[in-house]
Amino acid sequence: MKTKILKIKIPTDRKILIAAKIIQRGDLVAFPTETVYGLGANALSAKSVRKIFVAKKRPFDDPLIVHVSNEEQVYELAKGVNLRSKLLMDNFWPGPLTLVLEKSKKVPSITTGGLRTVAIRMPAHKIAHALIEKAKVPIAAPSANLFGKPSPTNARDVFEDLNGRIDCIIDGGTTTIGVESTILDVSSQRAVLLRPGKISTEQIEKIIGKIDQHPLIKKKGFNKGQRGGQVAKAPGMKYKHYAPQGFVILIEESTNFWTQVRSILPHYKNKKVGIITSTKGKKHHGAVVKFLGKTPQMAARNIFKIFREFDRKGVEVAIVQGISEKGLGAAVMNRVRKAADKIEG
Ligand code: TXA
Ligand code: MG
Repeated sequence: MKTKILKIKIPTDRKILIAAKIIQRGDLVAFPTETVYGLGANALSAKSVRKIFVAKKRPFDDPLIVHVSNEEQVYELAKGVNLRSKLLMDNFWPGPLTLVLEKSKKVPSITTGGLRTVAIRMPAHKIAHALIEKAKVPIAAPSANLFGKPSPTNARDVFEDLNGRIDCIIDGGTTTIGVESTILDVSSQRAVLLRPGKISTEQIEKIIGKIDQHPLIKKKGFNKGQRGGQVAKAPGMKYKHYAPQGFVILIEESTNFWTQVRSILPHYKNKKVGIITSTKGKKHHGAVVKFLGKTPQMAARNIFKIFREFDRKGVEVAIVQGISEKGLGAAVMNRVRKAADKIEG
């Protein structure tokens, strides 16, 4: 299959209609959102949604997020949308917050990985919004990467993973946030945070009061061959995720990062090593050193980009310096833990 690339800068560009038609005829379009690029299909068509799993090589038990352009669509897709959900939508939509709600019959079970709930979000990105509106259907879209790989933050990343496997990529530039949306399960009495993102726990609690944190948020992802003892609520949490090809070692936030690096390096003498640090301008003999960024916002924008750079450079061992979990720092650390093969410190 030849993958068409549409460069679109403004949401009124008529090329959006070409992409919307591709969605309507049942095929796949990758598009930018404010978080990461998504790989979209008509969420209400089981046949179309199936193509997403095939293109990404994603396990069928890992459910997708359904993207909407107006609130009425939420009432079509979900049941029991109560005052609490309404408050969250009013405060944070359009934006990087995904709500997990009880699903309606309209949503095919392949979209939700067989679950009785559906994840819904209204993206703030103007091009994403225009695409959903013109397609006139809700769009199911996981991140537009091959399964297990870091999420794409620009069209080139999508092309690298999915060229020849999907019909169309909308190139709308680099995404601004860089990590995926916050996921909050509001399908039962207690609201549970399933994935940290730009919308923080503190922001959510200001609106609806205390929420729970899913215990797997701070845990490592399972590596190949490992089995999960605990059934994950967000099924995506059980896999090693967002990861570069190499072996990933996370050193939790500490004051003696470089001392620890020096003691680890002799174990990987003949390997190509990459280091991700929060110390600016640092060099280390024989290793590729990357600066993660001064603020949590910069770290979020850089983390997947650096993982992908390591893959292009053939890095075999990546050592990552942990950062403080304030603001977007919690989301960055969650992604690094899911990518990690080993956690130290
Ligand atoms: O920012 C984002 O959320 C991006 C953009 C494209 O919108 N999308 C994204 O999708 O990150 P994806 O598929 O890479 O991650 C979706 C996560 C998965 O871990 C999945 O397990 C979880 O959402 N999820 C989806 N439906 C769910 C449900 N009904 N209950 C619990 N978790 C769900
Ligand atoms: Mg993903």
